[in-house]
Amino acid sequence: MQAYRASLLRFDPEGRPIYDEDGLLVVGPDPQGRQRVVAAGDFREVKARHPKVAVSHLPGRILAPGFVDMHIHFPQTDIIGAPADGLLPWLENYTFPAESRFADPAHSAEVAEVFFDELLRNGVTTSLTFATSHPASVDAFFEVAERRRLRMISGKVLQDRHSPDGVRDETERSLTDTEDLIRRWHQVDRLGYAITPRFAPTSTDAQLRGAGELAARYPDTWIHSHVAENKDEVKWARELFPGARSYLDVYNGFGLMRERAVYAHCIHFDDDDRRLMRDTGTASAVSPTSNLFLGSGFFDFEGADRIGYRYGLASDVGGGTSFSPFATMMAAYYVGREGQTKPGVSIAPSALWWRHTGGAAEALGLAGVIGNLQPGCEADFVVIDPKATPMLARKTGLAANLEELLFSMIVLGDDRLIERTVISQAL
Ligand code: GUN
Ligand code: ZN
Repeated sequence: MQAYRASLLRFDPEGRPIYDEDGLLVVGPDPQGRQRVVAAGDFREVKARHPKVAVSHLPGRILAPGFVDMHIHFPQTDIIGAPADGLLPWLENYTFPAESRFADPAHSAEVAEVFFDELLRNGVTTSLTFATSHPASVDAFFEVAERRRLRMISGKVLQDRHSPDGVRDETERSLTDTEDLIRRWHQVDRLGYAITPRFAPTSTDAQLRGAGELAARYPDTWIHSHVAENKDEVKWARELFPGARSYLDVYNGFGLMRERAVYAHCIHFDDDDRRLMRDTGTASAVSPTSNLFLGSGFFDFEGADRIGYRYGLASDVGGGTSFSPFATMMAAYYVGREGQTKPGVSIAPSALWWRHTGGAAEALGLAGVIGNLQPGCEADFVVIDPKATPMLARKTGLAANLEELLFSMIVLGDDRLIERTVISQAL
């Protein structure tokens, strides 16, 4: 066993923050050799229970759960910041040409290494990740993630229509490839497979039906797609699927809404859509930097909370503009302000943080596994230096309470705050 003495941020089951100014985090191996949290809390109290444990002292540092990015595209690493009129021209002019290069395993492997370096530098320890339609991109992603001992989720993109040569796949083959990849990677070490239709407009009925059948046959896989991001996209989806009540309802009709199903964006929803999310246990990945960058719209946080469905935060790189969870939390705060009808100050800093750690883990069906530092959780965590820049040092030093401290870091922070990212290494 091993222990770290520093300030310690955790969350209770309701997502309320627990903060020990002088804390102790004790980690030790489980039967598989993975490091898990054995104890966490006030230094004196935890040390008294574990008197013999070796302690690394990290004065002035904060230990916090590794961030969980609920929606990101690893093959879009190089097109971050590509300007476009909106989603559909952005896909056509930048995204599909960039993704077509991932038929090449060497290119896939090179970008996967860069992608994981970026995630870890920014303190992100788990992501639900789009690959491309090429199985080689999925193999490259999982090979690198496995070597780095990460808990990662990804899958081959399904897109058998309205897609150019180079990224379009073929219906039957796409489904057998998906099943082969599930068998090769799902639940290997800490890896998980996501059945990944790009979005309804680029899949035939047959492909969506096949995806739904696989989702029923492998109920602990994830389902990962996009919905109701952009008004032109919504109009197109409604023309293509006139029998569905709404764009979201298309997915429901093909058996693609259930626990562990995650849809990015969910902006242009009505309350029936929100109830469908809640009643099926489906989660939303809220991607505010992407939605602001592509001019897609504003996620309705109040609507989501009023109906009560699961959601968490996501970068959506390369539509999103930053790998940093601090940038995503800041943008979520702005968007919460925009849609606000009740008095108050948008979303509380601790709630933003929870939505990018424990709350995101819960939305992924991984509560108690990642996203928190409570006993039993896998020990993926970040060491934060709250004095990483002169302005951070000044402002965090003035914080009168936890919410002010967290908000200082959300507003002023970036990758420089993350001094170290610690992964639950198998021994
Ligand atoms: N909808 C379909 N594909 C994509 C994509 O790659 N990014 C975003 N933001 N939306 C999409
Ligand atoms: Zn996306």
